[in-house]
Amino acid sequence: MEEKKSFLKEKIDLKSPNKNIVPITTSIENDGKLAIGGCSIQELVKKYDSPLYILDEKTLRESCRAYKKALEKYYPGKSLPIYASKANSSIFMSNLVSSEGLGLDAVSEGELLTALKGGVPNEKIVFHGNNKSDKEIEFAVRNNIKVIVDNDYDFERLENLSNSLNRDLEIMIRFTPGIECHTHEYIRTGSFDSKFGFGIEYLNNLFANIRDTKHLKLTGIHAHIGSQIFELDPHHDLGEIMVNVILDAKKFDHNIVELNVGGGLGIKYTESDDPPSIDEWVKTISDSVVKACKKNNLDFPTLMCEPGRSIVSTAGVTIYKIGAFKEIPGIRTYLSVDGGMSDNPRPITYQSNYSACLVNNPLNNNSDNKYTIAGKHCESGDVLFKEIDLAECKTGDLICVFGTGAYNNSMSSNYNRIPRPAALLVCDGDAEIIQKRENPSDLLKYDVLPDRFIKQN
Ligand code: LLP
Repeated sequence: MEEKKSFLKEKIDLKSPNKNIVPITTSIENDGKLAIGGCSIQELVKKYDSPLYILDEKTLRESCRAYKKALEKYYPGKSLPIYASKANSSIFMSNLVSSEGLGLDAVSEGELLTALKGGVPNEKIVFHGNNKSDKEIEFAVRNNIKVIVDNDYDFERLENLSNSLNRDLEIMIRFTPGIECHTHEYIRTGSFDSKFGFGIEYLNNLFANIRDTKHLKLTGIHAHIGSQIFELDPHHDLGEIMVNVILDAKKFDHNIVELNVGGGLGIKYTESDDPPSIDEWVKTISDSVVKACKKNNLDFPTLMCEPGRSIVSTAGVTIYKIGAFKEIPGIRTYLSVDGGMSDNPRPITYQSNYSACLVNNPLNNNSDNKYTIAGKHCESGDVLFKEIDLAECKTGDLICVFGTGAYNNSMSSNYNRIPRPAALLVCDGDAEIIQKRENPSDLLKYDVLPDRFIKQN
């Protein structure tokens, strides 16, 4: 039998959770079973059932602190890390990031409302989106939330709104810096061919138009180049490009005091992933902005960044129960679990890879058993792992999939009318519910049978 080292035996980097596959509190209990946040996973499933999303509070807080600390260390001016709530939006997440002093980025009225309910101060929220509705824009303005202008349509409506309210509005603008980076094409946003933001070549026009308005005050610029990025060079280049944009804006009398470089730092999903640390990422950006400001004799703007995945992904795991096995001799053995593409659409959408282990036998992946882990949805592509080594397992055993904190719950669906899992927060041996489990009957809540059909039956 081939000897393989389990990723669970790797040393955990406590300072930059995105460099680990597992939450920083992951341990193996005396009975050899998996625990996170001091809680036995098997006991949690006994109490809360499966599938189950779990978030580890210590990993979350360490990730937030790593951004804050690094910005304080490397950037001499004011700074604000802003959590990109699309990664995992909930009242709990809003509350947690806010308690760590982070701001929050929202892209819909739903995310805005969640942030406000979670206690994020209005002035620390920014509102993004390439097709905001009138209602959303009004909601943001009414709540004194800064809107990031993505296109002319946003610009026109904000101008009209500021005139009709006879009120000055501070705005930021988003532009596409023309930077290519190596990530999945669906999550690459900084190149010229992107639906987001103004083309960089259009900015002088825009600066003139904003100058001609009565009430719009351009205070900040924003760019985001993509997600799950392992290279540092694109963000180094971005800092410099953004400072040049500030200088261009100056020619139109705009005093840009906020520079928002977006998010994008990658995380370690599998052993072959090696992302930079949060410290390295922040240092790269800070150094490049500082150097360009000094060169041009520019006051340091407030430096903002918008991490999503690297705040919440490694803190999250998903627990599934194994059900059916199907062996196709000479081809593969399917092992089906009680969730799948509805709670984690990333494998079917981006061919994403994850790491996993058995909850009752986490260290032993030294078997020759290769499995294909399939979800329970009516779709052949609903496969969470094409091929994974696991110890011998049987129906009823639990599987823990790591790195599912970002873009799993937030992108989940009710495909096949499957209810969403509960989500728990674990810390120091305690587990608390942060999202209740849906029931099939909850899913009927918005169905309406017109009266004449009721009469027919
Ligand atoms: N800021 C803006 C404007 C963004 O569009 C995004 C992500 C972020 C910040 C946060 O990026 P992060 O730090 O998480 O990389 N659903 C995809 C990811 C889509 C990312 C969309 N924008 C996935 O599951 O991989």
